[in-house]
Amino acid sequence: MGTVISMADLLPEHLERLERAGHTVHVLRDAESHSLGSLLPDADAVICLLTQPITSQFMDATPKLRILANVAVGYENIDFPAAKARDVIVTNTPDVLTESTADHTFALLLAAARRIPEADGTTRKGKFPPWQLQQLLTGTDVYGKILGIVGLGRIGAAVARRGHGGFGMPILYHSRTRKEDLEVELNAQQVSFHNLLARSDFVCVHTPLTPDTRHMFDAEAFVRMKPTAIFVNVARGAIVDEVELVRAIREGSITGAGLDVFEQEPDVHPGLLELHERVVLTPHLGSATAETRTAMGNLAIDNVLAVLAGKPPLTPVS
Ligand code: DGY
Repeated sequence: MGTVISMADLLPEHLERLERAGHTVHVLRDAESHSLGSLLPDADAVICLLTQPITSQFMDATPKLRILANVAVGYENIDFPAAKARDVIVTNTPDVLTESTADHTFALLLAAARRIPEADGTTRKGKFPPWQLQQLLTGTDVYGKILGIVGLGRIGAAVARRGHGGFGMPILYHSRTRKEDLEVELNAQQVSFHNLLARSDFVCVHTPLTPDTRHMFDAEAFVRMKPTAIFVNVARGAIVDEVELVRAIREGSITGAGLDVFEQEPDVHPGLLELHERVVLTPHLGSATAETRTAMGNLAIDNVLAVLAGKPPLTPVS
């Protein structure tokens, strides 16, 4: 039986599953916790969150470690080459968060397009505007507009399905690989990055953060977009140069944004905080539903239980 250190705030049902299998579990939510150092040498498995950097030094302190189970689909917090060099298996939690993250993408898209936070604030302040043709807080249509998706993986495809099936949106996508099945299912069209920027009314980012995608949305990208466009990012903050995003909205190169992720989380660029019109911000909540967070924890535990039982992990990172 093994020793499992969880730096994730596991639910009671998650803990029970590990304990029922006979493992000793230590839940230490704070990576700086004083007890962590003394427990690491015994750790067979570590469950961690995307906000917790797992460095080669951390792995040097865990000589028995067999698995790092990240409770997230992204795993840029883990020094993957260092894990590989030590034969430590790294797992993530794909699939279980796809639909909730796609829902959140659409929530931001709709909220920015129809100015929901501004309208909510105005209503609560008792400033109910008169009904007029040139209505205060007028938004923009979503139905039938062009949806451009950068990165048509699982989450990108789920967003495309919502746009196509629910909102009659023509779908453009930019992706390293062609998705012929989705082209048939959704009538999606693969285009170059620049073509997508020039034609889309809504641009949604669903690509992982890699050296190639860091600051993919820079000054040039925003200038290429329609002045009426709304930009939505539920992937990773550093895919966007936030200074240039703020500039683009201020100067009217684009109309607005829905953002769930930020370059320096938990800090948010002060320029974004000053933008209220058609800019909607949420604090990395893409997968934050009770059902999905429970499922993410369960998948991390499935991986730990498998590896500690000498079986292959369910969702290894390769
Ligand atoms: C992930 O899993 O990478 C998401 O960002 C969590 O919401």
